[in-house]
Amino acid sequence: MTDYKIMNKSHIEEMVEIEKLCFNSGFAEKTFLRELENKIAYYIVSETDGKISGYGGIWNVCGVAEIIDIAVHPDFRKMGIGQGILEKLIDFCKKEDCLELNLEVRESNIPAQKLYEKLGFIKNGERKNYYDGKETAFLMSLKLK
Ligand SMILES: CC(C)(COP(=O)(O)OP(=O)(O)OC[C@H]1O[C@@H](n2cnc3c(N)ncnc32)[C@H](O)[C@@H]1OP(=O)(O)O)[C@@H](O)C(=O)NCCC(=O)NCCS
Repeated sequence: MTDYKIMNKSHIEEMVEIEKLCFNSGFAEKTFLRELENKIAYYIVSETDGKISGYGGIWNVCGVAEIIDIAVHPDFRKMGIGQGILEKLIDFCKKEDCLELNLEVRESNIPAQKLYEKLGFIKNGERKNYYDGKETAFLMSLKLK
């Protein structure tokens, strides 16, 4: 059973652990603490059987939203949780009357690209050597109006 909640301080310790499992240089505790104070940020977490299983966050910059972070703990993948998180973020952006939701994703990150495509995102550009001066970023966008 998975619930989706707005992030608060008590979730951060587990979020940092998931960041370490998912990314080479993930967000540290202080980054998430800063995001709690950030007026344009909105983060939700998923809680599965009492454990934080994943989370995702956006920034709403004057009606154009950007995905800042999304991750699911490796033990909880392929269970629909990433999709659940993304759907909640999209719902929030619609409520906030955003024009579109944008993101960057590594060229090699097929699971994430498939997730975004499943929810209607379309690739609309790329940035060469964006990650570590080596890997291309695909730009993807979901029109909300
Ligand atoms: C990308 C990520 C968030 C997906 O989370 P998840 O909970 O495993 O995804 P879901 O179970 O909700 O899957 C939803 C859809 O995503 C796609 N998908 C997810 N994992 C996939 C995989 N390993 N291969 C191919 N498609 C995949 C499928 O379209 C899937 O729909 P389906 O089950 O009907 O086939 C997860 O793999 C993750 O945390 N990766 C590491 C962090 C990361 O890369 N974040 C994104 C940075 S841009």
